[in-house]
Amino acid sequence: MADTDKVHLHTYPGDSVDVTWDRRLCIHIGECGRATGELFVGGRDPWCQPNAAQLGDTVDVVERCPTGAISYVRKDGGPAETAPAENTVVVAYNGPLYVSGELEIDGAAEDMAAVKFRAALCRCGASKNKPFCDNSHEAVAFRDYGAVGDRGPGCEESGGALSVRRAKNGPLLVSGNLAIVSASGRVAWRGKRAALCRCGASKNKPFCDGAHKPAGFEAD
Ligand code: FES
Repeated sequence: MADTDKVHLHTYPGDSVDVTWDRRLCIHIGECGRATGELFVGGRDPWCQPNAAQLGDTVDVVERCPTGAISYVRKDGGPAETAPAENTVVVAYNGPLYVSGELEIDGAAEDMAAVKFRAALCRCGASKNKPFCDNSHEAVAFRDYGAVGDRGPGCEESGGALSVRRAKNGPLLVSGNLAIVSASGRVAWRGKRAALCRCGASKNKPFCDGAHKPAGFEAD
């Protein structure tokens, strides 16, 4: 049986790696369910069995989860997860902002291990788990197809820390070397500083255009 460490964290122990699932962050994207092999099998108890998969496959599958809901701790002395070479924000079709990189996310709990590298951030304004997405965009029928019209000032560097702060009742303030990728997969914007809409009302998504004020958006 899986060890339940806390209500929101479930750790599945293996001989060479432990895998932890964080229910606060999971929006059921399903990368784990689509993985080949036997690490995750829906309906099995426990659902996750690290000893049923090769260690390399386990690491690969876990790092594919774009929300940070799954993390791992190696017990074989091998390397821990590291940040990708480039910080990116992917604007999802009718969905959240998928951020990856060397992340410092204001509002993340200390025991959210993987959101140092991967996270899904609310941009519809309706999440009850801000700054993270909780799939409320579906309930409120949020519509934005993820186009990005601005090219940004440019940025020749990549990587390094990417800070994501919450402006009270306003946007996400992102600073660090950053590329923004449209929902179509195009690297659309490069720069070092951006204010990204998290109220859902901007007419220039994914950027804030000040519409949070007339919209009466309230969030820490
Ligand atoms: S946060 Fe949405 S317009 Fe500013």
